[in-house]
Formats: sequence, C-alpha cells, structure tokens
Amino acid sequence: MRKVIPIAQPMINKEEIEAVVAVLKSGVLTSQFGDGPYTKKFEESFAKYVGARYAVTVNSGTAALHAALLAAEIGEGDEVIVPSFTFVATVEAVVLIGAKPVFVDIDPKTYTIDPAAVEEAITSRTAAIIPVHLYGLMADMEKIMKIAREHDLVVIEDAAQAVGAEFAGKKAGSFGDFGCFSFYGSKIITTGEGGMVTTNRRDNAEALYAIRSHGFGRHHSSERLGHNYRMSEIASAMGYYQLLKLPRLLEARRKNANMLTNMLEDIGRLELPFEPKGYKHSWYVYTVRLRGCRAGERNKVVAKLVNAGIQAEVYYPTPVHMAPYYRRKFGFKPRSLPKTEAAARQVFSLPSHSGLTEEDIRYISQKLRKIIG
Ligand SMILES: Cc1ncc(COP(=O)(O)O)c(C=O)c1O
Repeated sequence: MRKVIPIAQPMINKEEIEAVVAVLKSGVLTSQFGDGPYTKKFEESFAKYVGARYAVTVNSGTAALHAALLAAEIGEGDEVIVPSFTFVATVEAVVLIGAKPVFVDIDPKTYTIDPAAVEEAITSRTAAIIPVHLYGLMADMEKIMKIAREHDLVVIEDAAQAVGAEFAGKKAGSFGDFGCFSFYGSKIITTGEGGMVTTNRRDNAEALYAIRSHGFGRHHSSERLGHNYRMSEIASAMGYYQLLKLPRLLEARRKNANMLTNMLEDIGRLELPFEPKGYKHSWYVYTVRLRGCRAGERNKVVAKLVNAGIQAEVYYPTPVHMAPYYRRKFGFKPRSLPKTEAAARQVFSLPSHSGLTEEDIRYISQKLRKIIG
C-alpha cells in the first residue's frame, strides 16, 4: 500500500536531536523567568530573522496571543476586531481577557481580513485589531496599520501560520505592536508545543517577560497579573535549530506550491491560491476552493482524497462565530459573514510541506483531477 501523505510533517534532524540531548544532560531544563541560555539564543535569532527589536518565547501560539493582549492591557469593556475565518485560538484569547470579539468578513480571494470591513466595525470601544495571516499569506498590513494609527488601536498580528511570510519587503510579525507565532507540531518550524511574541517596544517586551512568569519582577513578587507561559530549554534548543533551517524549508514549500499550481491550473472548478503582488507566501498549506459548491460536495472530495492516502483537511469548516460556544455566549447569527461562510463551505487544503517528493505532488494532482472529473 502507498504511504499516507500527511498534511504536515516536522523536519527534525541530527542538530535538533543532539541539542535536545545536550540540554537533557546539562540538567538545566528550564529557568524560573523563562530566560535560560538556549531560550535567549532562540529569542535573539528569531528577533533578527523577523526584523523586530524583541522576541519573547512562550509555550504556545495561544499563550502568545493571550500574553500580547495582557501586555496591551486590553480587557473588560473593550472590543477587539477579529476575523471569524481563523483557528479558534485567535478569538479565545480575546474572550479570556474579558473583551468582546467583533467579527468582520474576509477578502474572498486571499481569505484574510478585509480592511474596509475593519474600518466599518470600529466603534468608540474598539481597542485592538487582530489580523490573521491565514495559510501563510499575510493580511494587508499597510491598510490595517493606517486604520489603526488613525483610530489609535493596538495591532496584534496572528502569524501562527506565517513565519517567514512577507509583505512590502517586511516579515510577518514586524508590522504590528505585537506579532504572535506558533511552533505547534504541524507548524512550519516546531518545538512540539511553543510560541513567540515579537515587538519593537521595550516596554512591551518587559511586560511580556513578566507575564510569561506570573507577572514577576526581579524579586519573585508579582508586579502584574501573569501566567506560566515559559518555554523550556528543551523546546528552545529545538526552536533554535529549526530556525536555522527555516529559509530552506520555505524554499521547498514555495517549490511545491508552484508545482501544484502548474499541475492544477487548468481545472476550471478549482480556484487556486496565489501570491498577490508585493507578498511572499510561506505556504503553510495549499488551500483551494471548489467553486460554487456546497459543503457536502466539498466534504466528499476531501473524503476521497483521504481514501487515496492524501491527508487533505478543511481549515476551517465552522467559522468561529458559528461555533456553539460563541453563538451561545454572544448570540452571533448565521449568514452574518457571507464571504467567511462561503469559504468555510468551499475550501480545502492540500499539503505543501518540505517533506513532499515530486512524485507525491504528481500523485496528489492526478488524484484530485480524477476526483473532480
Ligand atoms: C491562526 C492560528 N492562531 C493561533 C494558533 C494557536 O497556536 P497554538 O496551537 O500553538 O496554541 C494557531 C495554531 O494552532 C493558528 O493556526
């Protein structure tokens, strides 16, 4: 039988394994402020890579978002503008700090938050915007930053899927007040579980250092509300070596995405992902739309791909405003975000990760062509 082609595959080599073993042998597995030697090395090299002044490790992408909102002192009575077409963690963090998520629709071509819809959603209570760089393509950060400056709003980039993505020559995580990254096992670089917050401001970085370790100042005394969001030295050692190979991983993803596009572009029913002018995609996944279909038809295509040993996935079949908890808590209604809801019915993602061979890509394309007919 043919091996299953997974939707994501971590690239772990000798360097990560040796570094992790060395940490295990050293006995320094973590540190009380989350600032052990490997953690500092990982943070310094990550900040440099992104082009931000500071990078602060945390232990998940969700923690990164929560810590950024805490550092920005957003809370009860505040509204935060978010897309509904995202992984639930983007919104969860907003609810955890006691603020109200205000959902806006997406651009149907790029699947990222629509800046015009953001502007329309601003009220006197709006405190922040969280654009999500979905599937590895950045939101239009020039327009979003302009709106934010005009209305004095905090911008937190959800770059969980977009490490290395670029817009106008700058990397994801270098535009907003905060950039939040995830190193979950399926992500472009991984530490198993892990995250990072980037920022250009020293006061923000200092708030984040405190928040990730119980709000501690220098003397183990809580100066603010915090959490245990520390990254272990084991994870940081892995992250440091993962980051060194990131340019190579991104190059392989780009090549795979280009091959998929070449092999699929004549299938009229498929709308393929693209790189708008001025953008560099990180190709976290290769997401296509089956034009004009209902969810049932799309789901059948995905099931047939899975049957053929191709782990296609739907990100995300239920937009957050339609998830039971969010409907109950905030009374969100269906048909309120038509572009989001259409995308949730029609898209599915194919793998584009660096573990794919040319043969895998040919196989994926042939199967998909046959299934769609
Ligand atoms: C868009 C987005 N935001 C936030 C997260 C949360 O990251 P984590 O799973 O590391 O908590 C993820 C990934 O899972 C994500 O894809």
